Amino acid sequence: MTETMIGVIGGSGLYDIDGLENTAWVDVESPWGTPSDQILTGSLNGVKMAFLPRHGRGHVHSPTTVPYRANIDALKRLGVTDVISVSACGSFREEYAPGHFVIVDQFIDRTFAREKSFFGTGCVAHVSVAHPTCPRLGEACHQAGQAAGITIHKGGTYLAMEGPQFSTLAESKMYREHWGADVIGMTNMPEAKLAREAELCYASIAMVTDYDSWHPDHGEVDVNDIIKTLMGNSEKARNMIRGLPDLLDHDRAPCPHGCDRALDFAIMTAPE
Ligand code: ADE
Repeated sequence: MTETMIGVIGGSGLYDIDGLENTAWVDVESPWGTPSDQILTGSLNGVKMAFLPRHGRGHVHSPTTVPYRANIDALKRLGVTDVISVSACGSFREEYAPGHFVIVDQFIDRTFAREKSFFGTGCVAHVSVAHPTCPRLGEACHQAGQAAGITIHKGGTYLAMEGPQFSTLAESKMYREHWGADVIGMTNMPEAKLAREAELCYASIAMVTDYDSWHPDHGEVDVNDIIKTLMGNSEKARNMIRGLPDLLDHDRAPCPHGCDRALDFAIMTAPE
């Protein structure tokens, strides 16, 4: 049994969490670089937690410059077992309205200017990301969201784009009509892939802020509108996170989906 430690990576609008006890902002060194910010450690209802603002306090990292490898590695070094990614997204579905949350379970990775793996020269590994999120952790997030009174949809495909510009109308329509994406954002990749390589359970909560540009009744995406929706969303996210520790066992049984053993059959390089 391992002791559960929840790592929350907070996106735009979520720069801290409520109710944490014995808190400290700590510096964590990583051979993969400096994480986005210091990490807030503490405990919530007896469960250890670590919180990392993905863009840094003050929102200083763009989706492209977020140091994804350093962030995941720093959480792993602190002892995190379960990573909860919270991020803003646009919606491609009428029924996934601004203010709703989506527990993402699939991704289409269209990012191209980011380091995507801990492996490469010297040690080559190919982990499976066929099922890139952890169903056990996703279910706990879904329950916590419902208990917090949030309209929360279970399951959705997240298109990860490079940004920082939003999509063109043609791209928005293509992702929605032909590619089957449900939501769009700029940050969950390569984060989810790296969490799998680090053998961490990973769940993604996407908070809908807008309808991207496809919706005939809504104008173009606008950062001001996104920020207004984000204010309400981040309050909801904080309430949801408060409920999570009671839904996860303090002493963690191995992941039934094998997230914590992802490297068992993934390494190609012969041991020396
Ligand atoms: N984040 C929030 N809304 C978004 C959108 N429409 N496209 C990409 N990222 C987003």
